Amino acid sequence: MDNFTFHSPTEFVFGRGTQNQTGKLIKQYGGGKTLLVYGGGSAERSGLIKQITDSLKSEGIDFAVLKGVKPNPTDDKVYEGIALAVKEGVTFVLAVGGGSVIDTAKAIAMGAVYSGDFWDFYCGKATPVAALPVGVVLTIPAAGSEGSPNSVITKLDGLHKVSCRCQLTRPKFAVMNPELTMSLPWEQTAYGITDMLCHIFERYFSNTPAQLVNAYSEAIMRDVMDNALTLKINPEDYEARADVMWAGTLAHNGICGVGKEEDWATHRMEHEVSAIYNVAHGAGLACIAPAWLTFVAKRNPDMVWKFAINVMSVNPEGLETDQIIEEGISLLKDFYHDLGLTTSLTELIGKEPDIDAMVKSLEGNMGKSLGFYVPLTMDDCREIYKLAL
Ligand code: NZQ
Ligand code: ZN
Repeated sequence: MDNFTFHSPTEFVFGRGTQNQTGKLIKQYGGGKTLLVYGGGSAERSGLIKQITDSLKSEGIDFAVLKGVKPNPTDDKVYEGIALAVKEGVTFVLAVGGGSVIDTAKAIAMGAVYSGDFWDFYCGKATPVAALPVGVVLTIPAAGSEGSPNSVITKLDGLHKVSCRCQLTRPKFAVMNPELTMSLPWEQTAYGITDMLCHIFERYFSNTPAQLVNAYSEAIMRDVMDNALTLKINPEDYEARADVMWAGTLAHNGICGVGKEEDWATHRMEHEVSAIYNVAHGAGLACIAPAWLTFVAKRNPDMVWKFAINVMSVNPEGLETDQIIEEGISLLKDFYHDLGLTTSLTELIGKEPDIDAMVKSLEGNMGKSLGFYVPLTMDDCREIYKLAL
């Protein structure tokens, strides 16, 4: 295990009815006038926005509203939010939604107190030194943004989808009521499950020895897969919803990566897919992850072999290492198919993707090398995209 610092200061308020505590929590964290940020309407239709605004009003918290954040959020909405936050003089940003809404809220929180262009933080031109406090009411377990310091925004000019890591934007609190996730269309539940699993993959597939971290990471992955299949049959199973929701946070708040060198090649490669073709991030990952595993296992089989046995439950008896790995990846693909997802990029976007364009953009955003479990050249990435076709 490498040296590490783990500081995860978010207060997680979990369970039935917790959304009604939102106003109190904002006050607890010193918030005054609040920018309420949400998406395309699901939170309005379910009545959640009414519950949240009632909670703010009962605490005497004034608020302004920014709605209409779309999946794979773009910089135009962030600029709109920054202008509104400054005009209204807000001191707190509240995200009600999933990763797209939370990431937009985080970008606004940094941009509203910065005199330059918020994109400076995403393209690496500047480091944020201040941000408005952010709070979250989570409605979809997936991106893990409720407990992470990351936000991912796409710049419309050039379709650059880039992540900014800033500890200042870790949410002060995250309200997590599993019941709120029961209104999700099945495919969104499935995308979320794929995403959280991949957040663990990015940390699990590492060359750093970490027996304890690997053991609980494997337990979370097995549990998520188990509950995913339960939810496929009964989407209203509260216990399964609760496990999946908490797993989504544990997958990405850093606990599964402590003391380890993390990889992140799969994510970086997927971000090109969702930026250029505007598909759901989790849907893209279901195509890239098995292709990445197939490629890296040839150069570095150890952890893929372990994953096949300990997570995908391959019985190793009588099998060679490469057979065990092949079976493990095949079972992972079967799992995605059972969720109703495709593992083919061509099927996902309805045509052959432009691999040259994705590799060019990847190189522009990330440089010439990607990942650590197996460091990848741009030619390697091209091969992985081909394997995912
Ligand atoms: O917009 P509305 O109408 O609310 O609908 C949303 C949206 O269409 C819907 N939805 C959310 N909660 C719902 C619901 N529908 C019914 N009932 C509910 N309870 O779900 C759709 C997807 O929402 P979105 O926020 O886009 O999902 P997700 O949480 O998967 O976020 C994806 C974004 O997060 C980024 C992804 O790249 C993508 O842009 N990521 C952010 C990360 C981070 N900040 O740490 C890490 C991740 O790896 C990821 O890259
Ligand atoms: Zn992700």
